[in-house]
Amino acid sequence: MAKKVVLETGKTFGEFCLLTNFTSRDCTLQNIKLETNLGGLKLSQPFLSAAMTSVTGYEMALALGKEGGLGVLPARLSVKEQVSTIEKIKGYEMGFVEDPVTVRENATIDEVVRLIEKHGHSKVPIADRNNVFLGLFSFDRYLEASATPGDDATKIMIKPQDLPITKNPDISLEEAKKELSEKNYLIVLDELGRLVKIAFKKDVEKIPVAAAISTHSGWKKRVQACVDAGVDMIVVDTSDGFNEFTSEVIEEFKNLKTGLPICVGNVITYDGAKFLMEKGADVIKIGMSSGSICTTQREKATGRSPMTALLDASQAQKEFLDKTGTYVPLVIDGGVSSAGDMIIALAVADAVMMGGYFNHFYEAEGEKMDENMQLTSHEPDIRYIATWGEGSDRARNLDRYGHVARKTFFAEGEEGTVENWGRLKPKLKQDIRKIKAALSNAGCMNLDEFRNEAVIELMSTYSQEVVGNTHNMQVKE
Ligand code: IMP
Repeated sequence: MAKKVVLETGKTFGEFCLLTNFTSRDCTLQNIKLETNLGGLKLSQPFLSAAMTSVTGYEMALALGKEGGLGVLPARLSVKEQVSTIEKIKGYEMGFVEDPVTVRENATIDEVVRLIEKHGHSKVPIADRNNVFLGLFSFDRYLEASATPGDDATKIMIKPQDLPITKNPDISLEEAKKELSEKNYLIVLDELGRLVKIAFKKDVEKIPVAAAISTHSGWKKRVQACVDAGVDMIVVDTSDGFNEFTSEVIEEFKNLKTGLPICVGNVITYDGAKFLMEKGADVIKIGMSSGSICTTQREKATGRSPMTALLDASQAQKEFLDKTGTYVPLVIDGGVSSAGDMIIALAVADAVMMGGYFNHFYEAEGEKMDENMQLTSHEPDIRYIATWGEGSDRARNLDRYGHVARKTFFAEGEEGTVENWGRLKPKLKQDIRKIKAALSNAGCMNLDEFRNEAVIELMSTYSQEVVGNTHNMQVKE
Protein backbone atom coordinates (compact mmCIF):
# COMPACT_ATOMS: atom_id res chain seq x y z
CA MET A 1 0.00 0.00 0.00
CA ALA A 2 1.10 3.57 -0.59
CA LYS A 3 2.93 5.21 2.32
CA LYS A 4 0.07 7.63 2.77
CA VAL A 5 -3.40 7.94 1.34
CA VAL A 6 -4.88 11.39 1.78
CA LEU A 7 -8.64 11.22 1.79
CA GLU A 8 -9.23 14.93 2.26
CA THR A 9 -9.84 16.45 -1.15
CA GLY A 10 -7.56 19.13 -2.62
CA LYS A 11 -8.97 22.62 -3.01
CA THR A 12 -8.80 25.31 -5.65
CA PHE A 13 -9.38 29.06 -5.54
CA GLY A 14 -13.05 29.14 -6.52
CA GLU A 15 -14.03 26.96 -3.58
CA PHE A 16 -13.22 29.70 -1.09
CA CYS A 17 -14.77 33.01 -0.24
CA LEU A 18 -13.21 35.94 1.57
CA LEU A 19 -14.87 37.19 4.76
CA THR A 20 -15.17 40.87 5.53
CA ASN A 21 -13.46 42.63 8.39
CA PHE A 22 -13.67 46.12 9.88
CA THR A 23 -12.79 48.74 7.25
CA SER A 24 -11.42 52.08 8.37
CA ARG A 25 -12.29 55.30 6.56
CA ASP A 26 -8.89 55.57 4.92
CA CYS A 27 -8.91 52.01 3.59
CA THR A 28 -9.90 53.15 0.11
CA LEU A 29 -8.95 51.95 -3.37
CA GLN A 30 -6.70 54.99 -3.73
CA ASN A 31 -4.79 54.20 -0.54
CA ILE A 32 -4.53 50.44 -0.91
CA LYS A 33 -1.23 49.28 -2.42
CA LEU A 34 -0.54 45.92 -4.04
CA GLU A 35 3.25 46.09 -3.87
CA THR A 36 5.13 42.86 -3.37
CA ASN A 37 8.74 41.94 -2.74
CA LEU A 38 10.10 38.86 -4.46
CA GLY A 39 13.43 38.19 -2.78
CA GLY A 40 14.49 41.83 -3.10
CA LEU A 41 12.81 42.50 -6.45
CA LYS A 42 10.03 44.98 -5.70
CA LEU A 43 6.97 45.01 -7.95
CA SER A 44 4.11 47.46 -7.67
CA GLN A 45 1.64 44.77 -8.79
CA PRO A 46 1.84 41.08 -7.80
CA PHE A 47 1.57 39.58 -11.28
CA LEU A 48 3.95 37.48 -13.34
CA SER A 49 3.24 36.36 -16.88
CA ALA A 50 3.99 32.68 -17.43
CA ALA A 51 7.24 31.59 -19.06
CA MET A 52 5.28 30.20 -22.02
CA THR A 53 6.14 30.77 -25.66
CA SER A 54 2.49 31.51 -26.50
CA VAL A 55 2.32 34.13 -23.75
CA THR A 56 5.46 36.06 -22.92
CA GLY A 57 7.69 37.85 -25.42
CA TYR A 58 8.70 41.49 -25.78
CA GLU A 59 5.17 42.89 -26.12
CA MET A 60 3.75 41.08 -23.09
CA ALA A 61 6.78 41.70 -20.87
CA LEU A 62 6.67 45.37 -21.81
CA ALA A 63 2.91 45.83 -21.35
CA LEU A 64 2.87 44.00 -18.02
CA GLY A 65 6.09 45.66 -16.85
CA LYS A 66 4.57 49.09 -17.58
CA GLU A 67 1.66 48.20 -15.31
CA GLY A 68 4.01 47.18 -12.51
CA GLY A 69 4.11 43.40 -13.01
CA LEU A 70 6.84 41.10 -14.31
CA GLY A 71 7.15 39.22 -17.60
CA VAL A 72 9.09 35.95 -17.41
CA LEU A 73 10.76 35.13 -20.73
CA PRO A 74 10.47 31.41 -21.53
CA ALA A 75 13.45 29.08 -21.22
CA ARG A 76 12.47 27.61 -24.58
CA LEU A 77 13.63 30.80 -26.33
CA SER A 78 17.22 30.71 -27.55
CA VAL A 79 19.74 32.51 -25.37
CA LYS A 80 20.08 35.08 -28.14
CA GLU A 81 16.32 35.70 -28.22
CA GLN A 82 16.10 35.99 -24.45
CA VAL A 83 19.06 38.38 -24.30
CA SER A 84 17.86 40.62 -27.12
CA THR A 85 14.39 40.84 -25.54
CA ILE A 86 15.86 41.79 -22.16
CA GLU A 87 18.03 44.42 -23.83
CA LYS A 88 15.06 45.84 -25.70
CA ILE A 89 12.98 46.06 -22.53
CA LYS A 90 15.79 47.63 -20.56
CA GLY A 91 16.45 50.09 -23.35
CA TYR A 92 12.80 51.03 -23.57
CA GLU A 93 11.99 54.57 -22.68
CA MET A 94 8.56 55.80 -23.46
CA GLY A 95 9.22 59.46 -22.97
CA PHE A 96 6.38 61.93 -23.38
CA VAL A 97 2.82 61.07 -24.30
CA GLU A 98 2.67 63.46 -27.24
CA ASP A 99 -0.97 62.98 -28.09
CA PRO A 100 -2.90 62.24 -24.88
CA VAL A 101 -6.54 61.16 -25.11
CA THR A 102 -8.35 64.42 -24.26
CA VAL A 103 -12.00 65.42 -23.77
CA ARG A 104 -13.81 68.73 -24.20
CA GLU A 105 -15.30 70.75 -21.36
CA ASN A 106 -18.84 69.57 -22.14
CA ALA A 107 -18.01 65.87 -21.66
CA THR A 108 -19.98 64.18 -18.90
CA ILE A 109 -18.46 62.09 -16.14
CA ASP A 110 -20.08 59.02 -17.65
CA GLU A 111 -18.43 59.66 -21.03
CA VAL A 112 -15.00 60.11 -19.51
CA VAL A 113 -15.33 56.99 -17.35
CA ARG A 114 -16.25 54.96 -20.42
CA LEU A 115 -13.19 56.31 -22.20
CA ILE A 116 -11.07 55.31 -19.21
CA GLU A 117 -12.55 51.81 -19.26
CA LYS A 118 -11.71 51.54 -22.96
CA HIS A 119 -8.13 52.81 -22.84
CA GLY A 120 -7.18 52.09 -19.26
CA HIS A 121 -5.55 55.52 -18.78
CA SER A 122 -6.66 56.77 -15.40
CA LYS A 123 -5.99 60.46 -16.13
CA VAL A 124 -7.74 62.33 -18.91
CA PRO A 125 -7.00 66.01 -19.65
CA ILE A 126 -9.95 68.32 -20.28
CA ALA A 127 -9.35 71.06 -22.86
CA ASP A 128 -11.48 73.59 -24.74
CA ARG A 129 -11.92 73.72 -28.51
CA ASN A 130 -8.63 75.57 -28.88
CA ASN A 131 -6.92 72.85 -26.85
CA VAL A 132 -6.43 75.21 -23.92
CA PHE A 133 -5.95 73.02 -20.87
CA LEU A 134 -8.74 73.35 -18.28
CA GLY A 135 -7.96 70.57 -15.82
CA LEU A 136 -7.38 66.88 -15.31
CA PHE A 137 -10.02 64.21 -14.83
CA SER A 138 -8.56 61.65 -12.46
CA PHE A 139 -10.24 58.29 -11.98
CA ASP A 140 -9.04 58.17 -8.37
CA ARG A 141 -10.62 61.56 -7.66
CA TYR A 142 -13.84 60.38 -9.33
CA LEU A 143 -14.02 57.35 -7.01
CA GLU A 144 -13.98 59.66 -4.00
CA ALA A 145 -16.22 62.39 -5.40
CA SER A 146 -19.94 62.57 -4.87
CA ALA A 147 -21.12 63.29 -8.39
CA THR A 148 -23.65 61.75 -10.73
CA PRO A 149 -22.74 60.24 -14.10
CA GLY A 150 -24.59 62.96 -16.04
CA ASP A 151 -22.64 65.81 -14.38
CA ASP A 152 -19.98 67.65 -16.35
CA ALA A 153 -16.55 66.12 -15.93
CA THR A 154 -15.23 69.62 -15.17
CA LYS A 155 -17.18 69.50 -11.89
CA ILE A 156 -14.73 67.04 -10.35
CA MET A 157 -11.58 67.74 -12.38
CA ILE A 158 -8.34 68.73 -10.67
CA LYS A 159 -7.74 72.41 -11.42
CA PRO A 160 -4.49 73.60 -13.10
CA GLN A 161 -3.29 75.39 -9.94
CA ASP A 162 -3.29 72.04 -8.10
CA LEU A 163 -1.39 70.17 -10.81
CA PRO A 164 2.30 69.71 -11.71
CA ILE A 165 2.52 71.87 -14.82
CA THR A 166 5.32 73.42 -16.85
CA LYS A 167 4.79 76.12 -19.44
CA ASN A 168 7.96 75.21 -21.28
CA PRO A 169 6.78 73.31 -24.37
CA ASP A 170 10.38 72.55 -25.39
CA ILE A 171 11.28 70.82 -22.14
CA SER A 172 13.59 67.88 -22.84
CA LEU A 173 13.00 64.39 -21.50
CA GLU A 174 16.10 64.71 -19.32
CA GLU A 175 14.73 67.91 -17.74
CA ALA A 176 11.31 66.32 -17.29
CA LYS A 177 12.90 63.29 -15.61
CA LYS A 178 14.43 65.58 -12.97
CA GLU A 179 10.99 66.99 -12.18
CA LEU A 180 9.52 63.49 -12.11
CA SER A 181 11.80 62.51 -9.25
CA GLU A 182 9.31 64.28 -7.01
CA LYS A 183 6.11 63.99 -9.03
CA ASN A 184 4.19 61.16 -10.66
CA TYR A 185 3.52 63.13 -13.84
CA LEU A 186 4.16 66.46 -15.49
CA ILE A 187 1.75 68.32 -17.77
CA VAL A 188 3.43 70.39 -20.49
CA LEU A 189 1.59 73.45 -21.82
CA ASP A 190 2.67 76.16 -24.28
CA GLU A 191 2.73 79.90 -23.57
CA LEU A 192 -0.99 80.13 -24.43
CA GLY A 193 -1.88 77.39 -21.98
CA ARG A 194 -2.53 74.80 -24.71
CA LEU A 195 -1.86 71.17 -23.91
CA VAL A 196 1.31 69.91 -25.59
CA LYS A 197 2.21 66.62 -23.90
CA ILE A 198 2.40 64.77 -20.59
CA ALA A 199 5.27 62.86 -19.00
CA PHE A 200 4.52 60.03 -16.56
CA LYS A 201 7.02 58.82 -14.01
CA LYS A 202 6.31 55.16 -14.67
CA ASP A 203 7.08 55.68 -18.35
CA VAL A 204 10.61 56.83 -17.70
CA GLU A 205 11.48 54.20 -15.10
CA LYS A 206 13.28 51.00 -16.07
CA ILE A 207 10.93 48.09 -16.63
CA PRO A 208 11.70 44.89 -14.70
CA VAL A 209 11.96 41.59 -16.55
CA ALA A 210 12.79 38.00 -15.58
CA ALA A 211 14.24 35.10 -17.54
CA ALA A 212 13.40 31.43 -17.14
CA ILE A 213 16.07 28.75 -17.34
CA SER A 214 15.92 24.97 -17.31
CA THR A 215 18.21 22.76 -15.25
CA HIS A 216 19.73 21.23 -18.40
CA SER A 217 23.37 21.84 -19.27
CA GLY A 218 23.99 25.28 -20.67
CA TRP A 219 21.92 27.05 -18.02
CA LYS A 220 24.94 28.84 -16.59
CA LYS A 221 25.83 30.46 -19.89
CA ARG A 222 22.22 31.54 -20.24
CA VAL A 223 22.21 33.05 -16.75
CA GLN A 224 25.45 34.92 -17.41
CA ALA A 225 24.15 36.30 -20.72
CA CYS A 226 20.84 37.37 -19.14
CA VAL A 227 22.61 38.99 -16.18
CA ASP A 228 24.87 40.91 -18.56
CA ALA A 229 21.76 42.08 -20.45
CA GLY A 230 20.26 43.46 -17.21
CA VAL A 231 17.70 40.83 -16.18
CA ASP A 232 16.09 41.33 -12.74
CA MET A 233 15.33 37.76 -11.66
CA ILE A 234 16.13 34.21 -12.76
CA VAL A 235 13.32 31.65 -12.69
CA VAL A 236 14.18 27.96 -12.68
CA ASP A 237 11.32 26.58 -14.72
CA THR A 238 10.63 22.91 -14.13
CA SER A 239 7.31 21.14 -13.79
CA ASP A 240 8.67 19.24 -10.78
CA GLY A 241 11.40 21.08 -8.89
CA PHE A 242 11.73 18.69 -5.94
CA ASN A 243 14.94 17.05 -7.15
CA GLU A 244 18.70 17.03 -7.17
CA PHE A 245 19.01 19.03 -10.39
CA THR A 246 17.28 22.11 -9.02
CA SER A 247 19.23 22.00 -5.78
CA GLU A 248 22.49 21.86 -7.77
CA VAL A 249 21.37 24.81 -9.88
CA ILE A 250 20.54 26.85 -6.75
CA GLU A 251 23.91 26.07 -5.21
CA GLU A 252 25.88 26.91 -8.36
CA PHE A 253 23.77 30.00 -9.02
CA LYS A 254 24.63 31.32 -5.57
CA ASN A 255 28.32 30.77 -6.34
CA LEU A 256 27.97 33.02 -9.40
CA LYS A 257 27.24 35.89 -6.99
CA THR A 258 24.98 37.75 -9.39
CA GLY A 259 23.17 39.47 -6.54
CA LEU A 260 19.85 38.63 -8.23
CA PRO A 261 17.04 36.62 -6.68
CA ILE A 262 16.43 33.09 -7.94
CA CYS A 263 12.86 31.84 -8.09
CA VAL A 264 12.63 28.05 -8.16
CA GLY A 265 9.79 25.66 -8.86
CA ASN A 266 7.50 24.08 -9.18
CA VAL A 267 6.65 22.23 -6.00
CA ILE A 268 3.29 21.19 -4.58
CA THR A 269 4.04 19.69 -1.17
CA TYR A 270 5.24 20.83 2.23
CA ASP A 271 8.38 18.70 1.78
CA GLY A 272 9.08 20.12 -1.68
CA ALA A 273 8.76 23.71 -0.49
CA LYS A 274 10.89 23.06 2.61
CA PHE A 275 13.55 21.40 0.45
CA LEU A 276 13.88 24.40 -1.89
CA MET A 277 13.89 26.87 1.02
CA GLU A 278 16.66 24.94 2.74
CA LYS A 279 18.64 24.80 -0.50
CA GLY A 280 18.54 28.60 -0.67
CA ALA A 281 15.83 29.50 -3.18
CA ASP A 282 14.90 33.18 -2.76
CA VAL A 283 11.37 32.72 -4.10
CA ILE A 284 9.39 29.51 -4.57
CA LYS A 285 6.87 28.72 -7.26
CA ILE A 286 3.94 26.45 -6.49
CA GLY A 287 1.69 24.42 -8.77
CA MET A 288 1.42 21.34 -10.94
CA SER A 289 -1.39 20.11 -13.16
CA SER A 290 -3.58 23.15 -12.66
CA GLY A 291 -2.49 25.17 -15.73
CA SER A 292 -5.16 26.07 -18.26
CA ILE A 293 -3.48 24.02 -21.05
CA CYS A 294 -2.14 21.32 -18.74
CA THR A 295 -2.84 17.61 -19.29
CA THR A 296 -0.36 16.26 -16.73
CA GLN A 297 -3.06 14.93 -14.40
CA ARG A 298 -4.73 13.15 -17.33
CA GLU A 299 -1.45 11.66 -18.59
CA LYS A 300 0.35 10.89 -15.33
CA ALA A 301 -2.25 11.30 -12.55
CA THR A 302 0.29 13.58 -10.88
CA GLY A 303 -0.26 17.06 -9.50
CA ARG A 304 -2.33 18.85 -6.91
CA SER A 305 -5.17 21.29 -6.46
CA PRO A 306 -3.44 24.68 -6.29
CA MET A 307 -4.84 26.10 -3.02
CA THR A 308 -3.98 22.94 -1.12
CA ALA A 309 -0.46 22.97 -2.59
CA LEU A 310 -0.13 26.63 -1.66
CA LEU A 311 -1.39 26.15 1.90
CA ASP A 312 1.12 23.34 2.49
CA ALA A 313 3.94 25.46 1.07
CA SER A 314 2.92 28.35 3.31
CA GLN A 315 3.16 26.05 6.35
CA ALA A 316 6.76 25.27 5.31
CA GLN A 317 7.33 29.00 4.77
CA LYS A 318 6.14 29.86 8.30
CA GLU A 319 8.31 27.22 9.92
CA PHE A 320 11.34 28.28 7.86
CA LEU A 321 10.78 31.89 8.91
CA ASP A 322 10.54 30.94 12.60
CA LYS A 323 13.68 28.82 12.36
CA THR A 324 15.92 31.04 10.24
CA GLY A 325 14.34 34.52 10.23
CA THR A 326 14.18 34.38 6.42
CA TYR A 327 10.88 34.96 4.66
CA VAL A 328 10.74 33.10 1.33
CA PRO A 329 7.97 34.53 -0.85
CA LEU A 330 5.61 32.17 -2.68
CA VAL A 331 4.38 32.55 -6.25
CA ILE A 332 1.30 30.53 -7.16
CA ASP A 333 1.42 29.29 -10.75
CA GLY A 334 -1.42 27.67 -12.68
CA GLY A 335 -5.18 27.87 -12.59
CA VAL A 336 -5.51 31.54 -11.63
CA SER A 337 -7.83 32.92 -14.26
CA SER A 338 -10.02 35.65 -12.76
CA ALA A 339 -9.86 38.50 -10.25
CA GLY A 340 -11.68 36.22 -7.77
CA ASP A 341 -8.98 33.56 -8.12
CA MET A 342 -6.28 36.21 -7.70
CA ILE A 343 -7.90 37.51 -4.49
CA ILE A 344 -8.11 34.08 -2.85
CA ALA A 345 -4.56 33.20 -4.02
CA LEU A 346 -3.17 36.47 -2.61
CA ALA A 347 -4.58 35.64 0.83
CA VAL A 348 -1.67 33.16 0.95
CA ALA A 349 0.76 33.84 -1.91
CA ASP A 350 3.03 36.85 -2.48
CA ALA A 351 2.32 36.92 -6.21
CA VAL A 352 0.45 35.07 -8.94
CA MET A 353 1.84 33.78 -12.21
CA MET A 354 -0.70 33.47 -15.01
CA GLY A 355 -0.52 31.97 -18.48
CA GLY A 356 -4.05 31.54 -19.78
CA TYR A 357 -5.19 34.89 -18.37
CA PHE A 358 -2.45 36.84 -20.16
CA ASN A 359 -2.80 34.73 -23.31
CA HIS A 360 -6.16 36.46 -23.90
CA PHE A 361 -4.53 39.81 -24.60
CA TYR A 362 -3.33 41.33 -27.83
CA GLU A 363 0.20 41.55 -26.42
CA ALA A 364 0.45 37.73 -26.05
CA GLU A 365 2.77 35.89 -28.42
CA GLY A 366 0.20 33.45 -29.88
CA GLU A 367 -0.96 34.05 -33.45
CA LYS A 368 -4.02 36.26 -33.85
CA MET A 369 -7.08 35.03 -35.77
CA ASP A 370 -10.32 36.46 -37.09
CA GLU A 371 -13.82 34.97 -36.68
CA ASN A 372 -13.10 32.47 -39.47
CA MET A 373 -9.90 31.34 -37.79
CA GLN A 374 -7.79 33.03 -40.46
CA LEU A 375 -4.58 34.68 -39.36
CA THR A 376 -4.88 38.44 -39.10
CA SER A 377 -2.78 41.32 -37.87
CA HIS A 378 -5.64 43.81 -38.15
CA GLU A 379 -6.43 44.55 -34.51
CA PRO A 380 -10.20 45.15 -34.76
CA ASP A 381 -10.66 41.79 -36.53
CA ILE A 382 -8.90 39.70 -33.92
CA ARG A 383 -11.31 37.29 -32.22
CA TYR A 384 -9.01 34.49 -31.08
CA ILE A 385 -5.42 34.07 -29.97
CA ALA A 386 -3.45 30.82 -30.21
CA THR A 387 -2.27 29.18 -27.01
CA TRP A 388 -0.11 26.15 -26.25
CA GLY A 389 1.61 24.63 -23.25
CA GLU A 390 5.36 24.32 -22.93
CA GLY A 391 4.88 20.57 -22.78
CA SER A 392 2.83 20.44 -26.00
CA ASP A 393 3.99 19.00 -29.33
CA ARG A 394 4.22 22.50 -30.65
CA ALA A 395 6.44 23.93 -27.91
CA ARG A 396 8.69 20.88 -28.01
CA ASN A 397 9.11 21.52 -31.71
CA LEU A 398 8.68 17.86 -32.53
CA ASP A 399 8.47 18.50 -36.24
CA ARG A 400 12.04 19.64 -36.06
CA TYR A 401 13.36 16.82 -33.95
CA GLY A 402 11.47 14.13 -35.85
CA HIS A 403 10.21 10.75 -34.81
CA VAL A 404 13.14 9.84 -32.54
CA ALA A 405 11.91 12.38 -30.02
CA ARG A 406 8.31 11.42 -30.72
CA LYS A 407 8.95 7.83 -29.60
CA THR A 408 9.74 8.79 -26.02
CA PHE A 409 7.81 12.02 -25.74
CA PHE A 410 4.25 12.40 -24.58
CA ALA A 411 2.59 15.75 -24.47
CA GLU A 412 1.58 17.26 -21.13
CA GLY A 413 -0.03 20.32 -22.65
CA GLU A 414 -2.61 21.16 -25.27
CA GLU A 415 -2.63 23.55 -28.17
CA GLY A 416 -5.73 25.63 -28.89
CA THR A 417 -7.16 29.13 -28.98
CA VAL A 418 -8.55 31.61 -26.48
CA GLU A 419 -10.86 34.55 -26.97
CA ASN A 420 -9.24 37.94 -27.59
CA TRP A 421 -9.86 40.39 -24.73
CA GLY A 422 -8.09 43.29 -26.46
CA ARG A 423 -5.20 45.18 -24.90
CA LEU A 424 -3.87 44.23 -21.48
CA LYS A 425 -4.06 47.57 -19.69
CA PRO A 426 -7.81 48.27 -19.34
CA LYS A 427 -8.76 44.75 -18.20
CA LEU A 428 -5.80 44.38 -15.85
CA LYS A 429 -6.59 47.77 -14.30
CA GLN A 430 -10.19 46.71 -13.76
CA ASP A 431 -9.07 43.47 -12.12
CA ILE A 432 -6.64 45.43 -9.93
CA ARG A 433 -9.59 47.54 -8.79
CA LYS A 434 -11.51 44.37 -7.90
CA ILE A 435 -8.57 43.09 -5.86
CA LYS A 436 -8.25 46.43 -4.05
CA ALA A 437 -12.00 46.46 -3.38
CA ALA A 438 -11.69 42.99 -1.79
CA LEU A 439 -8.75 44.16 0.34
CA SER A 440 -10.88 47.10 1.42
CA ASN A 441 -13.69 44.71 2.44
CA ALA A 442 -11.13 42.78 4.46
CA GLY A 443 -9.88 46.04 6.02
CA CYS A 444 -6.35 45.63 4.63
CA MET A 445 -4.17 48.43 3.23
CA ASN A 446 -1.61 46.20 1.53
CA LEU A 447 -0.81 42.60 0.63
CA ASP A 448 1.30 41.97 3.76
CA GLU A 449 -1.69 42.86 5.91
CA PHE A 450 -3.93 40.81 3.65
CA ARG A 451 -1.78 37.68 4.02
CA ASN A 452 -1.74 38.11 7.78
CA GLU A 453 -5.31 39.24 8.39
CA ALA A 454 -7.49 37.74 5.65
CA VAL A 455 -10.03 35.11 6.60
CA ILE A 456 -11.13 32.78 3.82
CA GLU A 457 -13.74 30.08 4.13
CA LEU A 458 -14.51 26.92 2.17
CA MET A 459 -17.89 26.65 0.52
CA SER A 460 -19.91 23.51 -0.08
CA THR A 461 -20.43 22.47 -3.69
CA TYR A 462 -24.02 23.64 -3.35
CA SER A 463 -22.93 27.03 -1.99
CA GLN A 464 -20.49 27.43 -4.87
CA GLU A 465 -23.42 27.22 -7.24
CA VAL A 466 -25.62 29.64 -5.34
CA VAL A 467 -23.29 32.13 -3.63
CA GLY A 468 -22.00 34.64 -6.11
CA ASN A 469 -24.11 33.35 -8.95
CA THR A 470 -27.45 34.87 -9.77
CA HIS A 471 -30.43 32.60 -9.22
CA ASN A 472 -34.21 32.60 -9.28
CA MET A 473 -34.21 35.31 -11.92
CA GLN A 474 -33.93 35.76 -15.63
CA VAL A 475 -30.82 37.61 -16.55
CA LYS A 476 -31.53 40.70 -18.65
CA GLU A 477 -30.06 40.24 -22.16
P1 IMP B 1 -2.45 29.03 -16.37
O1 IMP B 1 -2.24 30.37 -15.81
O2 IMP B 1 -3.59 28.31 -15.72
O3 IMP B 1 -2.58 29.02 -17.86
O4 IMP B 1 -1.13 28.19 -16.01
C1 IMP B 1 0.13 28.58 -16.46
C2 IMP B 1 1.15 27.57 -16.04
O5 IMP B 1 0.93 26.29 -16.62
C3 IMP B 1 2.58 27.88 -16.46
O6 IMP B 1 3.18 28.91 -15.77
C4 IMP B 1 3.25 26.52 -16.24
O7 IMP B 1 3.58 26.32 -14.88
C5 IMP B 1 2.15 25.56 -16.61
N1 IMP B 1 2.36 24.98 -17.95
C6 IMP B 1 2.77 25.59 -19.07
N2 IMP B 1 2.83 24.75 -20.11
C7 IMP B 1 2.46 23.55 -19.63
C8 IMP B 1 2.28 22.25 -20.23
O8 IMP B 1 2.46 22.04 -21.43
N3 IMP B 1 1.88 21.26 -19.39
C9 IMP B 1 1.63 21.46 -18.07
N4 IMP B 1 1.75 22.67 -17.48
C10 IMP B 1 2.16 23.70 -18.26
